[in-house]
Amino acid sequence: MPSDLNPEEAAPGRTPAVRTLLRLWPYLRPVRGRWFAAAVIAVIASLTSLVIPVVLKWMVDGPIADGDTAGVWLGALWVLLLGLAEAVLFGLRRWLVARPLSGVEAGMREALYRRLQRLPIAFHDRWASGQLLSRATTDLMMVRQFLAFPLTFLLVNGVTILAGVVVMLVMDPTLGLLVLIPVLPVILVCTAFEKRFSEASRAAQDQVGDVTTLVEESVLGIRVIKGFGRHRSQARAFRELTHRLRGTELRKARLLGAIMTVIVTLPELAIGACLVLGSVRVADGTLSAGTLVAFLSTALALHWPIVSIGFLLAMSQEAATATARYFEVMDTEPESGTSVPAAASATVPGGVPAAVPSGVPATVPSGVPATVSSGVPADLPAVVPTVCPSPFTATAPPAREGGLRLEGVRFRYPDAPKDSPPVLDGVDLHVRPGESLALVGVTGSGKTTLTALVPRLHELTEGRITLDGVDITAMPREELRSRVAVAFEDPTLFSATVGENVLMGAAGGDGAEDADGADALERALGVAQAGFVHALPQGAGTQVGEQGLSLSGGQRQRLALARAVVGRPDFLVLDDPLSALDVHTEAAVEAALREVLADTTALIVAHRPSTVLLADRVALLSGGRITAVGDHHELLRTNTEYAWLMSGAALEPEEARR
Ligand SMILES: Nc1ncnc2c1ncn2[C@@H]1O[C@H](COP(=O)(O)OP(=O)(O)O)[C@@H](O)[C@H]1O
Ligand SMILES: [Mg+2]
Repeated sequence: MPSDLNPEEAAPGRTPAVRTLLRLWPYLRPVRGRWFAAAVIAVIASLTSLVIPVVLKWMVDGPIADGDTAGVWLGALWVLLLGLAEAVLFGLRRWLVARPLSGVEAGMREALYRRLQRLPIAFHDRWASGQLLSRATTDLMMVRQFLAFPLTFLLVNGVTILAGVVVMLVMDPTLGLLVLIPVLPVILVCTAFEKRFSEASRAAQDQVGDVTTLVEESVLGIRVIKGFGRHRSQARAFRELTHRLRGTELRKARLLGAIMTVIVTLPELAIGACLVLGSVRVADGTLSAGTLVAFLSTALALHWPIVSIGFLLAMSQEAATATARYFEVMDTEPESGTSVPAAASATVPGGVPAAVPSGVPATVPSGVPATVSSGVPADLPAVVPTVCPSPFTATAPPAREGGLRLEGVRFRYPDAPKDSPPVLDGVDLHVRPGESLALVGVTGSGKTTLTALVPRLHELTEGRITLDGVDITAMPREELRSRVAVAFEDPTLFSATVGENVLMGAAGGDGAEDADGADALERALGVAQAGFVHALPQGAGTQVGEQGLSLSGGQRQRLALARAVVGRPDFLVLDDPLSALDVHTEAAVEAALREVLADTTALIVAHRPSTVLLADRVALLSGGRITAVGDHHELLRTNTEYAWLMSGAALEPEEARR
């Protein structure tokens, strides 16, 4: 996982906050009824507070001026009731929106997770995991808070301020205009603020993603960090990131402070001016005391709606940033053709292939000993040693259509520098039906890349790959991936039981419960020589920790291998599956694997002669192409690079590569 920033965030581009926020509508739509009801209730509640000054005016000019005590009590009762009504209505609003909005948040989070599962590997290569994590957590929380609070209250406060201004203008036009003077400067300041705050908010949220990435990597890589005594430098890196984040948050606070000063001070000054002018006019007798009281209490009732606009704008801006970050992921094209109905699956539960490809012998029943002796079959039938000068398509066997075939495959990583040579540059390779072919090559020659192309984890740049004559791009991904099973170099295990981890490789996925599943599990564990599973506290039901940390590398590799073979796939792609095993275990796995490989078309990346000997033929990957194919012993004799690779120190690498 790349530890640095993802490329997208370098140039977010400034879309107006409102346009970004409008994209939330499809998610809000299902709960729009409740949301609008809540907003209307909030508006009514807020307007209630504007009625109180009217009652005050009636009290001052009526009962108080006339010395009517009963009238004063009546007025007080009204004020109390209005206050109570306001409180009850706001409570009702909160009750109305709380549940639906947490549903909206959950829905958005689910959609994000689904999208992440469907995005191509190339996307995940580019994006730091912490950036994705922070989008799924803090950003979505901000969005929910925005829908619950600022969105409602910008509307409520807007309506309240408007109504209040109208009331004040009606009460006294002169004072009303006076109190309106600050509006223009406040709007100008808000606009300037919005732009700068938006930049700061984007930076802060991206930095939260960086901090998340660093924490995640430190936790996952804790052994490396401790082993190399890197905790100090790691802590320093963390401190730098958090300081940067703190700096950005302080910048936000300063901006918010500045705008709050303007938003609070200017209206207060205007109200002060109204108080002075109004008092003078009451003294002159041109204004009733009741009107002045009512005017000032209306202005004060508007105080909170006006002041809170600063916060609301800030929260909206943060929500807009969060929304933009959310849609950066949601707008990325997923892999095509993943949503094909499950019927496309080629195998039935229990892992037995429903359709055995023609030319492939029937499955050997378990219990029958392996038919191929464990000695190296120097006289393997059907293997014609061929040492080819680059493309060797001419040697294609009669069963042209069957098996796994790569034709003119070129591949360059999407994010590789433009002028770099492609990793694979014209690979031609044919693995015949039922055959197992070992793939060897120096580190970095592109073996892992090649294996990832078969299940379409990456898209070819050029050329094509066929399975039994069918182009892999022509079949739905689900079908492709149910026919091809893979075990990667890095045997990732999930936080689940051993059995669940292995049965992930079976058709239908998670069905660990039934008897078929249990049989398949036993068989797969047998093939992978994973007998250690039975010695675990709960056998196959034992939970393995995050990434299977509680198991050794060799144990994890054997489980990954079991996962690859459990579904009895037609095609097996193994990326150096035995590298972490000791010699004895490796030999045992090989013997069992032979049984599986007897009726499976397999491509096996190998480093050691012992693994190579598992295969019927060997292909050498060098300089982006297949430079030789043939029998292990033959290649040892005729190909210097192969001989060097297999024997280790016999030749200097430079010499061998020439
Ligand atoms: N995700 C990636 N993005 C860009 N380049 C990559 C990526 N993965 C591997 N490479 C490059 O592709 C080349 C082949 O890598 P790989 O297939 O892993 O080799 P091998 O498995 O033979 O050791 C290497 O030079 C490596 O740096
Ligand atoms: Mg590799």
